[in-house]
Amino acid sequence: MNQNEYLNKIIQGDTLTALKTLPDEIVNLGITSPPYNKGENKKGWLVTNVKYSGATDKLSENVYQENQIAVLNEIFRITKHSGSFFYNHKIRWERGAMFHPIEWLTKTKWKIKQEIIWDRMIAANIRGWRFWQVEERIYWLYKPSGKNLIGEELKSKHALLTSIWRFPPERKNPHPAPFPLALPIRVIYAISDERKGIIIDPYCGSGTTLVASKILGHDFIGIEISNEYISFSKKRLENYRAEIKDADDEMAKHIVEKTFKERKEKGEFTGKYGKNNNKKENKYKTLDLFAFDKK
Ligand SMILES: C[S@@+](CC[C@H](N)C(=O)[O-])C[C@H]1O[C@@H](n2cnc3c(N)ncnc32)[C@H](O)[C@@H]1O
Repeated sequence: MNQNEYLNKIIQGDTLTALKTLPDEIVNLGITSPPYNKGENKKGWLVTNVKYSGATDKLSENVYQENQIAVLNEIFRITKHSGSFFYNHKIRWERGAMFHPIEWLTKTKWKIKQEIIWDRMIAANIRGWRFWQVEERIYWLYKPSGKNLIGEELKSKHALLTSIWRFPPERKNPHPAPFPLALPIRVIYAISDERKGIIIDPYCGSGTTLVASKILGHDFIGIEISNEYISFSKKRLENYRAEIKDADDEMAKHIVEKTFKERKEKGEFTGKYGKNNNKKENKYKTLDLFAFDKK
């Protein structure tokens, strides 16, 4: 496939098949939420309400995991060295067994850089077998460059956001399982900062990642099986300006009130044990993470 066929386009079709047509090392960053293999034969509020228009979500768990490993390895192939991929999934249970995404992520070529908790604050509560699960996970996957297995540090204003992301579910979108716009905005802005590149979402649904990429001035590649969601995404992309305010609200959260250097110069709490770390006013403020996270 040449650039004109995939850049700033949504490829209609199955993700794994479409990925295989793309050249090596073309994307800088990706974000996605794949189908979760919920099993549409089961009863329950979530299952009957989260149904996609062009695909079923019911495979045997082994086949599902093998498919996700193959998809993730194809994304690894088309990602540039030092590139990242953010993979949203959740912990599922079936017949007494827990399925944790880490089971198949460790079988891919990616280095797992971080597990982020997405606190959705509310979620469908099917039954009371367990405490109400309102969280999902987002895995930051990294493609090493040579011997550098961890990549470069985030700028302080991004790294000061914690590993718990609190975004309520998106309500203005007819897709059954869309991202809130703030989520891909956070990822793209934090990882790219002012640099521009190519962003992929291989299960792009209603196009939220693509809209975020466009607002932030990046090129994008989307893959989606449903024509209905592709049409919706195209309209959304045409009207992307209507969503700039939501993107700005997220970017306004990426701030540093005081840098590590400024704290040190003023003798304020820097995260190290010392004579000033018990001062009440310094204790629970956000810290410059670079003070102690050097691993
Ligand atoms: C969780 S949704 C993604 C929602 C998206 N993040 C958004 O903001 O709208 C997963 C998407 O994967 C699509 N899908 C399911 N199976 C697929 C396949 N084999 N190939 C491509 N897309 C598929 C579904 O139609 C659905 O839109």
